[in-house]
Amino acid sequence: MDKLFIFDTTLRDGEQVPGCQLNTIEKIEVAKALETLGVDVIEAGFPVSSPGDFNSVVEISKAVTWPTICALTRAVEKDIDVAAEALKYAKKKRIHTGIGTSDYHIKYKFNSTQDEIVERAIAAVKYAKRYVEDVEFYAEDAGRTDNVYLARVVQAVINAGATVVNIPDTTGYCFPHEYGAKIKYLIDNVDMKNAILSTHCHQDLGMATANSISGVINGARQVEVTINGIGERAGNTSLEEVVMAIKSHKELGIDTNINTQRIYPMSRMISSLMNMPIQPNKAIVGRNAFAHSSGIHQDGVLKNLSTYEIIDPKDVGIDDNAIVLTARSGRAALNNRLNILGIEVNDDELAEIYDRFLELADKKKDINDEDIFILAGKETDKMHRIKLDYLQVTSGIGIRNIANVGLDIAGEKFEASASGNGPVDAAIGAIKQIIKRQTVIQEFLIQAINKGSDDIGKVHMQVEYDGVNYYGFSANTDIVAASAEAFINAINKFVK
Ligand code: KIV
Ligand code: ZN
Repeated sequence: MDKLFIFDTTLRDGEQVPGCQLNTIEKIEVAKALETLGVDVIEAGFPVSSPGDFNSVVEISKAVTWPTICALTRAVEKDIDVAAEALKYAKKKRIHTGIGTSDYHIKYKFNSTQDEIVERAIAAVKYAKRYVEDVEFYAEDAGRTDNVYLARVVQAVINAGATVVNIPDTTGYCFPHEYGAKIKYLIDNVDMKNAILSTHCHQDLGMATANSISGVINGARQVEVTINGIGERAGNTSLEEVVMAIKSHKELGIDTNINTQRIYPMSRMISSLMNMPIQPNKAIVGRNAFAHSSGIHQDGVLKNLSTYEIIDPKDVGIDDNAIVLTARSGRAALNNRLNILGIEVNDDELAEIYDRFLELADKKKDINDEDIFILAGKETDKMHRIKLDYLQVTSGIGIRNIANVGLDIAGEKFEASASGNGPVDAAIGAIKQIIKRQTVIQEFLIQAINKGSDDIGKVHMQVEYDGVNYYGFSANTDIVAASAEAFINAINKFVK
């Protein structure tokens, strides 16, 4: 079997999604889970971009043992100096440097020439080599770069010492046959003895996974991916899709190091930490990915799973028979379930989650994995300046919808009442009266987690204030309360 290296960029390209930013503690949690999942490389950030990113790369380098920790840079000496400093504690380290190589980038971004770009690429790789042995070079917008010129760049950076050369389809423009042909052209026309090629595909035309697989079939030996395919715009190639495609097609003779049973818990962790819902029909990890509803399919699956299922859900960590927790479950049972889901907590955190668990179990009969992710991920609002003290709504048909709201703002109590076209509108109106800020709700998404009228509703809200978007999230069995809490969650991000 040929080994395919899995390079995870959830914490760099994935984290660029507006509203999905994680703090350093959350990033460490994700990095450790990625280590357990078995990824070979973790791209931990772009250290020169912000002190937060720098610090995350430092802390992840300390926390993670065997995967290579990678830091992104532009082909700029200062970036490389900062990346090398951030990677100081990494046991295995890689600098990922690069520059745009398409005519669009050369002309409009750099106002430069092809010759000059080759020189800058060589210089960046040589400079990075002063700090680390493992240097990856990216030819940004390689998807739209002429193959002959691209081969010249790739050969030049390998000669300069690059160990991996990344061929990003930055704009998600390529067709699978075209991207595969690009990789083949490079394999055939560049001396690849001392380096491997990497795919890095974007989803703008919905072809990221197909393009990555086409790249692998044509010789690439690293794929750059994110959990759930998160990433800017339409996203990046999703780890779970590529890994399961490779695993399902044994005839390729390619293997990865991924422990596939950790895929589902990892996917839930990212969705929950980033407050990013997964579409129900998402391949591999969507709620409906293994749900057969048509009679013909159900009949076939009952006779033999392989009639309509190419993957056993247990292989990706989905266990329908998992024990459901109830109000009678003890702390140990909860902790056991948290561990199975890849969530490690200390005794104090367990006590806090257990309290919230009992509160929820009072309102909802069965507590499932999704609920547990919500409980574990729920920010305690102790640290927040604005807290919801109480909420009372009167709503219905043929009457006015009225909300009475009490807020605690840094210890001081405020109350207001408002009417609206529904209970949520009334509650938001009352909160706005108290906070006296000109806000506009730009996006408002209510989603039930599972099924049943006692289910938890998740609310995502994008609130614009002073030209900037702030993101709020909450989950509650009462969707009016979840909406008010999500609004307050967003407000807490700008009211200091
Ligand atoms: O899409 C892209 O080109 C990138 C590079 C910075 C690697 O993310
Ligand atoms: Zn990218």
